[in-house]
Amino acid sequence: MRTARVRARGEDFRVVRLQGNLFVCSKANGSCCCGWTEKGRAAVNQTLYEAEWERRKLRNQVHLSFTGCLGPCVLGNNALLLLLGRAIWLKDLNDDRLIPAIFDYAQAMLDAGRILPPPLALRVHVYERYLPPPGDSFPPLVEPPEADDGAGLERLDPVCLMDVDPATARYRLEYQGRTISFCAPACKKAFERDPSAYELT
Ligand code: FES
Repeated sequence: MRTARVRARGEDFRVVRLQGNLFVCSKANGSCCCGWTEKGRAAVNQTLYEAEWERRKLRNQVHLSFTGCLGPCVLGNNALLLLLGRAIWLKDLNDDRLIPAIFDYAQAMLDAGRILPPPLALRVHVYERYLPPPGDSFPPLVEPPEADDGAGLERLDPVCLMDVDPATARYRLEYQGRTISFCAPACKKAFERDPSAYELT
């Protein structure tokens, strides 16, 4: 195990240096969509995540965190695997059989000491959410998502960045000659308070 000496609050502490972290969006930890069966999402089986993590003795390599909203709610249930310096986004995790597959994938990369393409079981669940860093030495793990080139912006709630169908949106307003759609009244109110705080292009 490798540790680092890190200073905080005027004291020195030893922290274990890890190779990654799995963040799982979970209702029990304040998510707004993932794990909400009443919104048509599958429950998040935290017990199984924990059991798979413990069974593989990953504690000193990959931390497991259950979190509130990770952002792309519409794609949930969501998780983010940070491993070997790479962010691997996982979506549509609505089947418990995917949980061991995520740990198998993480374990395979730890064993190989490098990032690997997702296994067949996860191929449709992995996507590139982040823009690549500058430079051209960052091959995508899967085909990058089809770019909208801005054409999809009218579908985005500018406050929470959720995908909202303008045809069925219940909360809308006219602003600078265009119709802005919102997922909920709270977002609409926030926008009305200060439209200049939100990016529309
Ligand atoms: S609630 Fe899970 S990503 Fe937003």
